[in-house]
Order: sequence, then structure tokens, then C-alpha cells
Amino acid sequence: IPVDPFDLVIFGATGDLAQRKILPGLYRRFHAGQMPQGARIIGAARSAMEPEAFREQVRKAIAEFVDRSKIDAKDVETFLECIDYVPVDAMGEGGWAELKDKVQDGRVHAFYFSVAPSLFGPLAERLNEHGIADSEARIVVEKPFGRDLASAKALNATLAAHFEESQIYRIDHYLGKETVQNLMAVRFANILFEPLWNAQYVDHVQITVAETVGVGGRGAYYDKSGAMRDMVQNHLMQLLCLIAMEPPYHFDPDAVRDEKVKVIRALQPVSPADIVRGQYAGVKASETRAAQPGYLEDSENPDSRTESYIALKVHVANWRWQGTPFYLRTGKKLRGRASEIAITFKAPPHSIFDEEDASWPENVLVIRLQPNEGMNLKVMIKEPGPGGMRLVQVPLDMSFAEALGEEGTDIPDAYERLIMDVIRGNQTLFMRGDEVEAAWAWTDPIIAGWEARGDRPRSYDPGSSGPEDALMLMHRDGRRWREIRE
Ligand code: BG6
Repeated sequence: IPVDPFDLVIFGATGDLAQRKILPGLYRRFHAGQMPQGARIIGAARSAMEPEAFREQVRKAIAEFVDRSKIDAKDVETFLECIDYVPVDAMGEGGWAELKDKVQDGRVHAFYFSVAPSLFGPLAERLNEHGIADSEARIVVEKPFGRDLASAKALNATLAAHFEESQIYRIDHYLGKETVQNLMAVRFANILFEPLWNAQYVDHVQITVAETVGVGGRGAYYDKSGAMRDMVQNHLMQLLCLIAMEPPYHFDPDAVRDEKVKVIRALQPVSPADIVRGQYAGVKASETRAAQPGYLEDSENPDSRTESYIALKVHVANWRWQGTPFYLRTGKKLRGRASEIAITFKAPPHSIFDEEDASWPENVLVIRLQPNEGMNLKVMIKEPGPGGMRLVQVPLDMSFAEALGEEGTDIPDAYERLIMDVIRGNQTLFMRGDEVEAAWAWTDPIIAGWEARGDRPRSYDPGSSGPEDALMLMHRDGRRWREIRE
């Protein structure tokens, strides 16, 4: 889909996210021929710096964060020509007149707030005061979008004082991931799954986002957040919505978001027995392992009760899902980096095979978000050979890379896609204000509950699958987590 010429202003352009994700992502779109003629990217930040010095930063960011195979010296130079820089003081008057001069009429205007949420208000106010943002301008904001319902409401109100909801793009980068969108394609473009997609046929759903990294380097932010706020309230909740939602009448921003909000509103409160929180331990140097700091050292808070791991059993209380649990888990410093959704179907109602052969595992549909994006459906077949009717479970495996060749491996980063959607004016993959508030309304009492009880997270070994108690969460229901592979 073609993209109109645009001016994209990135506030916080010298910050980590801009350098690691936004600017390299824009270069990749340019390299792929997706950037329209005359597109301009204007960096804005506090540091006084000439545009040339900023271009130098961008050049470095590309060298560091873009895959070698996509770096073409000529393309990099032409891309850098689209880049400008203005020092801007978010809280004062400095730089705004200059910024106004740079933003041209007659093109799409997008303003990316890659800054602390406390600056959303001042930036929005200045943009309006100086007449820089017109009624068609788009504002892009990052998470964390609040840390509870009250602060999210306050942020929504601040933005709403200056912009219409149709102008506000709240990023949840999980929605920009290829396979996450594929989830909707699989569900709604095939007749195969939807008839079985309910409590009558689905035994349970597992959503796992496992990471190998710790929180070192961003401990101060993370310690105020924890896995529930950092990952569950947004990313895992979005995945859950896409699995659990009713078919929207059309693939249209509000139709999709209306269905997602209904799922969030249907989430039941979670009982304390269905929550397991963990914190990774440190490792002392030994012959077989190098020393590693534990969470308490990484967060620089020796008394911290913040969780770096959480597992929850969640119920969606509606007609479709009554009785089907959704098990969610996410954590840092786990055995492997793996994000996946597994939908486990029930066993057939009656077995025509002998007892011994009939104890098969269920059909499971696994959607791998990363790494090695793809899908896998486990089905039962007859074991080859003359030994009678013996059943064996085999995977119908589709790796995008294998099935689609180069196109399947050349998957754009989530941010690239989302930024292009902002320019196209498509809000489908962005969170609406009411959706974020509904998500916090569900999250707040869960957090308040463990704070009131004074719960401490359980310690777990780095490189493991999380605390032992998380295993019990499923064992006691006669189920098992899928293995997290190294
Ligand atoms: C971010 C969280 O939103 O998502 C991080 O703040 C987390 O803590 C990251 O590491 C995971 O994103 P991805 O794309 O690497 O799975």
C-alpha cells in the first residue's frame, strides 16, 4: 500500500528507542523502497546539535542495528539526506519556531513522542500553541501508558485535551509482529479452525513470552514496573484478545478494537492461588558457571518485591470461553527466548482404538511468534509399519521461512510496520484509549492484592523455566506447560 509524503518528527530522537528501533526501522523501509519521495524525518531532542551531528548518530545506529545484508552505502547516504534535527525544549519555548518552519504544509504530519510520559502533556500543548500540529496530524505514544488506571486515565485526558482519538496512535509493539497479525489471518481467513475455537473443543490456551535477558541496565524503570505491568497488561493481554475475540465484522480499526475491548471486559478477577510471581536469583562463580547478578543486584534495590516472572491462570467469562482457562506466563532470564501461543484441543469424544493406543496427546496448534516465526499443528496419524493400528503424534509444521522462501524470512520489525501504519493513517494495530483503561482496570486489583498480602516473589534459577510453583499451577489442573527450549 503506497505511503504519502510525510514529515515525521521524533521527539526523544537521541534516546535509546529512537536509536535502536525507530531510526534503523525507517532506514529499512527506505531500503525496501517503501519511503515516498520527499519524506522527511526530523529529530527533536534537548541536546544542542547540528543536523550533521545527528545524521552521524543515525549512521552509527544503522551500522549497529540494521542487518549487514540490508546496508547499502548509497542507500544510507540518500536516506540521511531525508534527516534533519532541531533542538527543542519540551518545557520551554526554545526551538519551537524553528520546528514550525521545518514542518511543511500539504503532507502527512506525524509526531512520535519517544519520551517519558510526563512530557506527553507539555509536548502536545506546545505543538498546538505553535500551530505545528493540524487537525490531521498524528501523535504516536509509547508504553508505559500509565502504571495504573488512574494514571492511564490522566494521560488519556491530557492527550484528549489537544487531539482527537483518531489522531492518537498508542503503540504496543507486539501488535506489529508478523505472526501476531497472522493470528487474525489464520482465524478469520480459514474455515478450519473457527468452528472448534471455543470452550466445547479447546481444553486450554497457553501464552508464553520467555526472555533470556535480565533487567540489568534498566533496573530503575523495571523495578517500579515488574512483569505484570511491563508485559502482561499490554503484550500478553493483546495476544489473549486476538485469540479470544469474536470475529469483527470487518478488518477495520474500530471493529477490531471493539471486539478486543469486549474480551478485556470479560476477564474475571484472578484469585491469589492462580498467580505465581518469581524473581531470578544470582549465580555464584563455579567451575561450570560464570557469576551472574540476581534481580536484586540488577535492580539495585536489595528489598525489592518486584517480579521478573509471572504466571497466571485467567478466565474469559463469556459464552464462547466458559470453562477454558488461559494460562499466561512471562519472565526474564529464562532458559530460552521463545514467544508462542499454544491452543490445546480436547480429545475426541469417543475412541475407536484400543485403550493402550487411545491415550494420545491432544491436537495442539502452536503459533510461534519468535524466533523462527511459524505455525505447527500436532495431529495423530497411524505409525507406519505392519504392527497394527498404533497412533503417533506428528507435527504439520509451517515455518514461514520455509513455506514462503525469501519473503518468509524478510519479516519487517514490528516498529517498521507500525510507523508505516501511522503514516497511512491505519489505527487497527494501535490501542484505543478505552482498551488501555479496561486493561488497567483488570490489572490494578491483581497488583493491589499481592501488595496488600505482602507477597514476596519466589526465587528461580536463571536459565530455568521459572519458579517451581508455576509448574504446580498447571499440574494441579492435570496439565503441563510446554517446554521452553534453549
Ligand atoms: C518491552 C518490555 O515492551 O518488550 C521489555 O519493556 C521486553 O521488558 C520487550 O524485553 C520484549 O520485546 P520483544 O520484541 O523483544 O519480545
